[in-house]
Amino acid sequence: MSADYTVPEPVPFATTTAGRDRVTADLSHVARTPGVIKPDAIVVADQVTRHFGGMTAVDVAHLEVQRGAITALIGPNGAGKTTLFNLLTGFDRPSTGTWSFDNRSLSGVSAARVARSGMVRTFQLTKALSRMTVIENMRLGATHQPGENLFTALVPPLWRAREKEITEQAEELLARFKLDAKRDDYAGSLSGGQRKLLEMARALMSRPTMVMLDEPMAGVNPALTQSLLGHIQSLREDGTTVLFVEHDMHMVRHISDWVVVMAEGRIVAEGPPEDVMADQAVIDAYLGAHHDTDLGDDALLEDGIERLEAKEQNR
Ligand SMILES: Nc1ncnc2c1ncn2[C@@H]1O[C@H](COP(=O)(O)OP(=O)(O)OP(=O)(O)O)[C@@H](O)[C@H]1O
Ligand SMILES: [Mg+2]
Repeated sequence: MSADYTVPEPVPFATTTAGRDRVTADLSHVARTPGVIKPDAIVVADQVTRHFGGMTAVDVAHLEVQRGAITALIGPNGAGKTTLFNLLTGFDRPSTGTWSFDNRSLSGVSAARVARSGMVRTFQLTKALSRMTVIENMRLGATHQPGENLFTALVPPLWRAREKEITEQAEELLARFKLDAKRDDYAGSLSGGQRKLLEMARALMSRPTMVMLDEPMAGVNPALTQSLLGHIQSLREDGTTVLFVEHDMHMVRHISDWVVVMAEGRIVAEGPPEDVMADQAVIDAYLGAHHDTDLGDDALLEDGIERLEAKEQNR
């Protein structure tokens, strides 16, 4: 080896952009109107509303999410983004409405069955189990896999092989999320940002068709955000559909193929990031909550982190 040989940087994520190019082409002819029909929708929601007492948190007439794309759901605090996630994933019940995932109706289906059908989500406030270790949390993310049945469960060699496979998959994901050094630590000892990473890594254990991430970047150390962005983009290269809620407009612009804007429970705009960011309705929606910040300002991210920290302290 010559003296000037430098070790190449590891490339942990898919670096091709074929997925992005394909999705961009598929969406290029879609009109920029709220509730527009998509060429290959994986989620289709109709007349979904959720009232809390006299307050309407969600009022979505029609929404379609394009398969294989990275879609950002943005909007000011209290717009209904998390409530919509809760409804679609079976963690809350709507006042009205129906929706389907991958051509199957998911209205009224329990959260556990939604996850088994291939749609998994993470939470704005993390739900890592603090009294379990990081690796135990990861193992819990593994769900029923093809070929796994009662017979497997009853035959120890098969069962042990499956356990080994789950552990290997968990260790591989932990390494990708740079959490391998924390493998045997209690999840409760992790920082807020590390718990967000653990939650996303755990969500991927079931090899989902679609992941829904509620503010994945909030509280994550800036040194790790780049790899998290890389990971989300590599999901698209694998054909996984991503829907994420985010206040950081840099991140939204950087990785999303399509942006849906909510305000006061409704979808008020949607389109490719560059179009949506130039839209007056979006600016108005944000100015409702962020009077003194410009779109694209880092203050939005800082604001998100502050809110998350305040909420975590109040728990
Ligand atoms: N369980 C609940 N009971 C009563 N009101 C609720 C409940 N959950 C949400 N809300 C209200 O519904 C509205 C939408 O809240 P939601 O959490 O969905 O907003 P969001 O867009 O996720 O906001 P943020 O960006 O702050 O996370 C808010 O006014 C909120 O106070
Ligand atoms: Mg929210």
